[in-house]
Amino acid sequence: MISVVLLGAGNIATHLYKAFQKSDKVVIKQWYNRHLEAIQAFKNEVEITDRISDLKEADVYLIAVSDDVVGELSSQFPFDNRLTVHTSGSVGIYELDKKNRRGVFYPLQSFSKDANVNFKNVPICIEVIEKQDLKTLKSLAAALGSKSHKVNSDQRRALHLAAVFVNNFTNQLYRVAHEITEAQGVEFDILKPLILETANKVQHLSPYMAQTGPAKRNDKITLRKHLKLLENEEQKAIYELLTTSIQKTHGISNGLRPRRTSAKK
Ligand SMILES: NC(=O)c1ccc[n+]([C@@H]2O[C@H](COP(=O)([O-])OP(=O)(O)OC[C@H]3O[C@@H](n4cnc5c(N)ncnc54)[C@H](OP(=O)(O)O)[C@@H]3O)[C@@H](O)[C@H]2O)c1
Repeated sequence: MISVVLLGAGNIATHLYKAFQKSDKVVIKQWYNRHLEAIQAFKNEVEITDRISDLKEADVYLIAVSDDVVGELSSQFPFDNRLTVHTSGSVGIYELDKKNRRGVFYPLQSFSKDANVNFKNVPICIEVIEKQDLKTLKSLAAALGSKSHKVNSDQRRALHLAAVFVNNFTNQLYRVAHEITEAQGVEFDILKPLILETANKVQHLSPYMAQTGPAKRNDKITLRKHLKLLENEEQKAIYELLTTSIQKTHGISNGLRPRRTSAKK
């Protein structure tokens, strides 16, 4: 049995709490949040606190708070030589206070409080400084039903950066597509099977092999028509940038004439 003290009550902490509560391999000793209201509803299930000085003894202290305050919070712990881990993709392992053993337990998935999460679909990237802690964090991931991956700091940073491309940037492109369809009064929903197919395809093909479309085919007339259709300068710039990127990747040159940038003053 692994005992855990959970810190934070946001998206990640709430999902971790619910998932750990279902596991018979983990016991949540205590749940801390600086504002008690956020965890008040759970007070009959678990000991809650808003005081760092009251933290109980546990095998792992899971710090799931905003990136900027991870280090500061860990420096307030009133004990030393215990395993303290954060859940961030971008915060360095050495930003945790060195009086305790340090680690990272980074769930590589997008979490929102109200959306269901199946931890079987959440890879956990684990980083430790001391070898003895690897086993504990791997067992913690296994208790969630998650697959764990031992990574180093550079690899974790790379995964976090790559995640911005596949998640946040892709989602922003959905937003652009929404604006384009809305402007013509056509339903965005008609695109949803294509969105799913795009995500499904890279499950068995590399992104390189999965690419299709006018940029890859170098359909110059279509490319120009698309640019003309776009009224918004920002959308045009995105279209050009991504078309150029696809064509470079696939060794195609000159599919789009370079756009004129504004003359220097
Ligand atoms: N959301 C995701 O999809 C996701 C995915 C992977 C990793 N992560 C990582 O998980 C961590 C938590 O993210 P989240 O999305 O769960 O954040 P969140 O929903 O914004 O929650 C932030 C938490 O941090 C606490 N907090 C903020 N400032 C604090 C301070 N000065 N002192 C103490 N606590 C403070 C908040 O407390 P109050 O409730 O009192 O405001 C809240 O409990 C971050 O390191 C993030 O990078 C997030």
